Amino acid sequence: MERLPGFRDFYPEPLPDRDAWSAQVRQYVFERWRAIARRYGFVEYDGPPLEPLELFTLKSGEEIVKQLFDFVDKGGRKVALRPEMTPTLARMVAAHQRNYKKPLKWFAIPQLFRYEKQQKGRLREHFQFNADIIGEAGAAADAELIALLIDTLRAFGLTEQDFVVRLSSRKVWEEFLEPKRAKLGLGPDQVEAFYQAVDKLGRDTAAESQSKLAALGLSLDEVNEFIHAARPTAELQSILENLAARGLAAYVQIDYRIVRGLAYYTGPVYEAFDRKGEFRAIAGGGRYDNLIRLVSGGKIDLPALGFGMGDVVLVELLKARGLVPKLDAGLDAFCIIEDETLRSDTLRLVQRLRNAGLAVDYPLGETKPDKQIKRAHELGAKRTVKLERAANGLLVRIRNLASREEKTGAPEQVETLVQST
Ligand code: HAM
Repeated sequence: MERLPGFRDFYPEPLPDRDAWSAQVRQYVFERWRAIARRYGFVEYDGPPLEPLELFTLKSGEEIVKQLFDFVDKGGRKVALRPEMTPTLARMVAAHQRNYKKPLKWFAIPQLFRYEKQQKGRLREHFQFNADIIGEAGAAADAELIALLIDTLRAFGLTEQDFVVRLSSRKVWEEFLEPKRAKLGLGPDQVEAFYQAVDKLGRDTAAESQSKLAALGLSLDEVNEFIHAARPTAELQSILENLAARGLAAYVQIDYRIVRGLAYYTGPVYEAFDRKGEFRAIAGGGRYDNLIRLVSGGKIDLPALGFGMGDVVLVELLKARGLVPKLDAGLDAFCIIEDETLRSDTLRLVQRLRNAGLAVDYPLGETKPDKQIKRAHELGAKRTVKLERAANGLLVRIRNLASREEKTGAPEQVETLVQST
């Protein structure tokens, strides 16, 4: 039986082949994400993987709606696996925001599902680190999130030579469109089509872009000229200065080609890319000040902003730059049972060591001593622990497998003996 296309198995180390995904690397990534989020004062939340379909058709935009894993459940409800976390967050905040002091700084690590065409860096499920601030309208919050994004990537060993955050704003484009809006009759749908065209500038051919823009009464040249000038607005300037004050200026640059594919963004938007341009965006986000109002049916109005960073592109990039640390489960000790009459006494020892918080394993059935030593090495055990009969009772022998140092002592001292050998 094969797994579904675009889904992943996560195997324990050592991996069966080079392309396999590692459960330990996934854990390493999650731990770093959590640690950096906490460093920035974010607290964790989570929601359900299955949501009412309507939550995502509301404002995520056409592209993501086309990619939904949706179905009718046994109760006749139209439901969908979450393709992104932001609508769930908006729903949760709208329901209980009164119980929390603003601004909220919340993070989550959801698994997301999109029925996409599988390709490099694009699967049908991925894990995404989401960090969002709710209830803060000032640009200091945008800068705080971009700093968090940068520090998250730095925590994996990536430097300003490896990645850059491209900063833009939907407001900038609104100002660009404003004088033309009445003349060209641009309604909300045309403006969204315009964002989609800008979002695809890198992927579409010049002729395709030209024809999409011409349909809106605009030319590719004027759009390109505007992108090229890259004049920061006062709002973007204040974000840049805030990041510069933290010593993070080298990680950010203005790039108006970034408008983001999702339809709910309203202000500053950004994406992080590897500098060599080998991968799709590592992370993306921005301000979405109207989404909570929309999801709450107009009841709650709170400014909001955040970003998402996927595990797929991140791990591919870390692999390509040699930045995935060697991770093996590594036991503190492997208990050898040479004499089966000592099995019960050894189990008592195993339990003592585990109670002390140490990672310990032992043979589940009768096994030849040399096989046990081999298994200790295979499992990456730092030491072996063995009970022996001595003249005055039992003796425990600890052996450090790297230094070959040996210590013996009373079984009651096993914890300290293991920790000091
Ligand atoms: P997004 O740009 O759709 O944003 O996704 C963020 C990141 O998740 C992407 O840059 C990419 O690395 C990763 N990603 C997305 N789709 C896939 C996929 N099919 N396979 C692998 N990786 C993928 C959002 O989802 C927004 N909701 C982020 C956000 C949070 N905005 C505000 N708060």
